[in-house]
Parts: sequence; structure tokens; C-alpha cells
Amino acid sequence: MQVIKEVSSLKEQRSSWTHPVGLVPTMGFLHEGHLSLVRRARAENATVVVTIFVNPTQFGPTEDLALYPRDMDRDLALLEHEGVHAVFAPPASEMYPEGYSTWVDMDGVTSLLEGALRPGHFRGVATVCNKLFNIAAPERAYFGQKDAQQVAVIKTMVQDLNMNLDIVVAPIVREPDGLAMSSRNAYLSPTERVAATVLCRALIAARSLRMGGCSDAGAIRTRMSDIVKEEPLATLEYATVVSPVSFKDLGSVEGSALAVIAVRIGSTRLIDNMLLD
Ligand code: PAJ
Repeated sequence: MQVIKEVSSLKEQRSSWTHPVGLVPTMGFLHEGHLSLVRRARAENATVVVTIFVNPTQFGPTEDLALYPRDMDRDLALLEHEGVHAVFAPPASEMYPEGYSTWVDMDGVTSLLEGALRPGHFRGVATVCNKLFNIAAPERAYFGQKDAQQVAVIKTMVQDLNMNLDIVVAPIVREPDGLAMSSRNAYLSPTERVAATVLCRALIAARSLRMGGCSDAGAIRTRMSDIVKEEPLATLEYATVVSPVSFKDLGSVEGSALAVIAVRIGSTRLIDNMLLD
């Protein structure tokens, strides 16, 4: 497995890769959710490239950039075991050298929910993914449904800017008690870890309401927020029902609908989502 830190060396290596090439962008501290993307990419491509880069431009000034968990040695061992061909793990100065000045800005989906609560977040995500797509030139890139709004942003960017790759989306991998796997789960104390199941409990209740015939998105929202309010360690940021494409709130649920939730457990911010149809 090649471990590459410079854009120029990755571009040199690229010519020796067999196609198709599958790219899995990550910020490291890998768990089974990340590895499910890697395995899918391995099954569908001749060469798999994983990127490990804690992208500073997608973190707000008060967010957890400095604290973000890192374990490069463990990550590399896991990826080697999965048969990954190359890992691109550049320093920030390689991705954003002095004088860096180009950004991908998007209207619409980036202004709602995560975009509204984390100003600049999706600009950083879209920009770094655009750069990684240009650097690795993959035929396919793999993303998790865990970050559903990120998927909508990346798909919009690829379509709007006529990029030459397919975006593949893989399902959310959960712990046995339903908590969606996330590198940020590492921040939770044992009692917070138990409380964190409130996100998927609220989503399961939303889906049960819908399955029982409820099409009133307002009633589904109220049910989700009531469940979060019952959990003393949890603070609700949002719990709503949206279109999985535009992320606009739905009034009534007829076709495709996504329940999305963001909750703070102590100082840890967690997100999750579930399709209701
Ligand atoms: P990161 O949070 O490390 O996630 C990397 C990829 O793994 C994302 O596509 C994310 O949706 C997916 N993922 C995370 N947890 C998952 C789970 N429980 N089940 C399935 N997939 C899961 O998302 C990012 O990094 C960054 O924003 C990035 C796209 C790398 C740009 O910097």
C-alpha cells in the first residue's frame, strides 16, 4: 500500500493505476462505517484510494478541529488489511498552500440545517472534495448516507460542474444499540454514550409513525423532539422531515422523505437520519 503525502507524487503514481479507480474521502480515525465504504469500493474498482485529511476549511472557528481524533498508524493498518492500494494523507499546507484562494460555493441545499448551523462548512467540504476528485481522478467516489446533506451537496456539485465521476452512496453503519458510527462518538463519556441512542430512538419513532400511516410531518417532528426532551443529557438542535434532495422541510409526507436530527450530548454534536419510505 502506497502512503502518499504530496499532490505531485499522487499525480505521478496515478498513471500506474489500473482502472476503474474508486476514491474514499475520509478524515481518518476510521470505524466500520468508513470501512464499509472501502469494502464497497474494493468490490467495484480495480484500484482503491483512501484519503485521510482533517480538512480545516470545513470546521468553524469554535468547532473541534484541534481536538478531532486522530490515529494514523491504526488507520493505515486497517486500510492495508482491507487491500487498499494507496492512501493520500497530505498535510494542510499541501492542500491549502500560501496564497490559496479558490472556493466552491453553492446556493440552496448548503443554506439549510447543517449549512445554517455550521456556516462555511459545506463550502469547505465541496472545495476539498473537488480538489480530491481533481488530484485522484477517480471514476467513482464513495460517500456514506450518515452525512445525508453532504451527499446532496456533493451530488449537486458533480452535476452542476459536469464532473466526470459517479457518486456512490452507502447505507449508515450502526452500533448494535442503533447509534450511528462516527469518529465523534469517541468524545462521549460512558453515560453520554448511553444517552446518545436518543438520536436513533427518535428516528425509529418517526419511521414507526409514518409506517402506521401518519403523513403529517409536523406530528412526526413533534414526536422526535418529545423523545429528545425526555433525555436529560441531550439538547436538540433540530429534528425535522425534509426532501432528501433539497433538504427543504416537508408539510405532508407522500413520496420520498428523510427524517434528520442533530443533538448535542454534553459538548458532543451528533447527527443522524433515516428514510421514512
Ligand atoms: P468523515 O466524517 O471521516 O466521513 C468519511 C465518509 O464516511 C463520509 O462519506 C461519511 O458519510 C462516511 N461515514 C461516516 N460514518 C458512517 C457510518 N456510520 N456509516 C456509513 N458511512 C459513514 O465526511 C467526511 O469525513 C468529510 O466531510 C469528507 C467527505 C472526508 C471531506 O472532508
